[in-house]
Amino acid sequence: MMLPNRRKFLEILTKGTVSASLLPYTVSGYTSTQVSSKKVKGIAPSSEDTLVLAEDLDYNLLIQWGDSINEQDTFGFNNDFIAFIPNQEKADEGILWVNHEYINSMMIHQEAVTEKTQEQIEKEMYAVGGSLVRVKKENGQWTVVPHADNQRITGLTEIPFNWATPIEGKQAAMGTLGNCAGGVTPWGTVLTCEENYQFFYSDRRSSDRSSTDRSMIPSVEGWEKFYANPPEHYGWVVEVDPATGAAQKHVALGRCAHECATVKELEDGRLVVYTGDDKNDEHLYKFISSQPESLREGTLYVANLDVGKWIPVDVEQQPLLMDQFKTQTEALVYLRESAKILGATPLDRPEDIEIDPVSGDVLVALTNNIPQENYFGSILKIEEENGDHASLTFKATTYLTGGEDTGFASPDNMVFDRAGNLWFTSDISGSKMNQPPYSAFKNNGLFLVMRDGPQAGEVIQMASAPVDAEFTGPCFSPDGKTLFLSVQLSVQHPGEQSTSMETLTSHWPGEPGSIPRSAVVTIQGPLLQQIQQLS
Ligand code: FEO
Ligand code: CA
Ligand code: CA
Repeated sequence: MMLPNRRKFLEILTKGTVSASLLPYTVSGYTSTQVSSKKVKGIAPSSEDTLVLAEDLDYNLLIQWGDSINEQDTFGFNNDFIAFIPNQEKADEGILWVNHEYINSMMIHQEAVTEKTQEQIEKEMYAVGGSLVRVKKENGQWTVVPHADNQRITGLTEIPFNWATPIEGKQAAMGTLGNCAGGVTPWGTVLTCEENYQFFYSDRRSSDRSSTDRSMIPSVEGWEKFYANPPEHYGWVVEVDPATGAAQKHVALGRCAHECATVKELEDGRLVVYTGDDKNDEHLYKFISSQPESLREGTLYVANLDVGKWIPVDVEQQPLLMDQFKTQTEALVYLRESAKILGATPLDRPEDIEIDPVSGDVLVALTNNIPQENYFGSILKIEEENGDHASLTFKATTYLTGGEDTGFASPDNMVFDRAGNLWFTSDISGSKMNQPPYSAFKNNGLFLVMRDGPQAGEVIQMASAPVDAEFTGPCFSPDGKTLFLSVQLSVQHPGEQSTSMETLTSHWPGEPGSIPRSAVVTIQGPLLQQIQQLS
């Protein structure tokens, strides 16, 4: 399957199928006098196995793992990124894309499995990727509409590479996996990012490209036992057309543990895409297209924070890369090695990236770097020179630092609301939560930083996740009145530390005794409207 021609898709947009204004918006005419002086009351950290919300907010379960989305398909596991593609003709309808990042084998099979069968592995492959579901608001609440056009993209879906040179001899990969965060394009497609691909088909033992050793380290999930897919087929930014489900992998954006892909359209129609590699001491990248509407023609850059420069990952401009790689394709496939050759700055696990809709600053969540004894992380601010996202020079400063003083640790997904306030989630790993040095933070949470007013800059906890869970994928409806928590809040892996079906650490969202299920919830309430000054 190929994506529709860009122009054709834009024609569809202008016919009103979906909104043309899908990119992170710019808040125009914003003034601080619009901000309410009424204080926002947050919550204290919680270790309860429930979803706790600030007063005047409520949630509803929208969809959970295993729910039917059409006659043959079910919703996948461990939700992350959410994109809402509005129906321009009907304000209360849209298509929701939800990432399914990784699996918990015991939960999928509902028993601890040591030697997986091919059938079990295929069941796991079906549980990752993403879901496209029609949603509708009726009587004030969003519901999923079962529809023949709802679909699953999975670890079994054939996906072509958008690149002339074959990757490991193939023009297409088997499936997508590790789908963490993402982005949306100006033409209304979704970008879903393949993060920890090594869990599924492993990775090469040697990172030395001159070595003849192409042996593999065994993977956690062991899918390579039945499907010998090369690791080079994963770790890409994947574009999905929500109308058709057609997908393609974008080689020009390089291969790494992509957390997200945040798109800014320049005035001349070219694109800038920011993306981070979520691993200790890995790097921050941006792609600048040379053509409008293209994620294929252009240059990928990596950040050197010490000198404030974006360095091109381009064999023709970089003789040092030519010493290690024979082609530009190789330099992109082994992006981590390229970045190190070019002197890129090691970072504390770059996670989500958002562009401030008022200032244009680029915020990057640096979640933590435990080997470097950075437990609580920070949010980095990149100010591009002259506010130009195509600039090759920038200033980097710390915007927020995690810790007990600020009340959060390990920032991950971020989103700006309609008033330009920042919301972000935390991602303390299940194995470390509620233990030193993370005890004070209790379960993972959702946090708000007001842009202005009496609480400007203060970090306010707005929600607490169930035990061993993580909120991911926050996404506002276009009117700002609904936050999808995995529809604007994504409960990624409840009960992650459960070691057997008899000793489950979480039962959310069911009753005690039931198995936990990843789900997407909708959050609404008068407080959301107060915070954004919505009528
Ligand atoms: Fe999938 Fe880096 O979080
Ligand atoms: Ca993340
Ligand atoms: Ca995470």
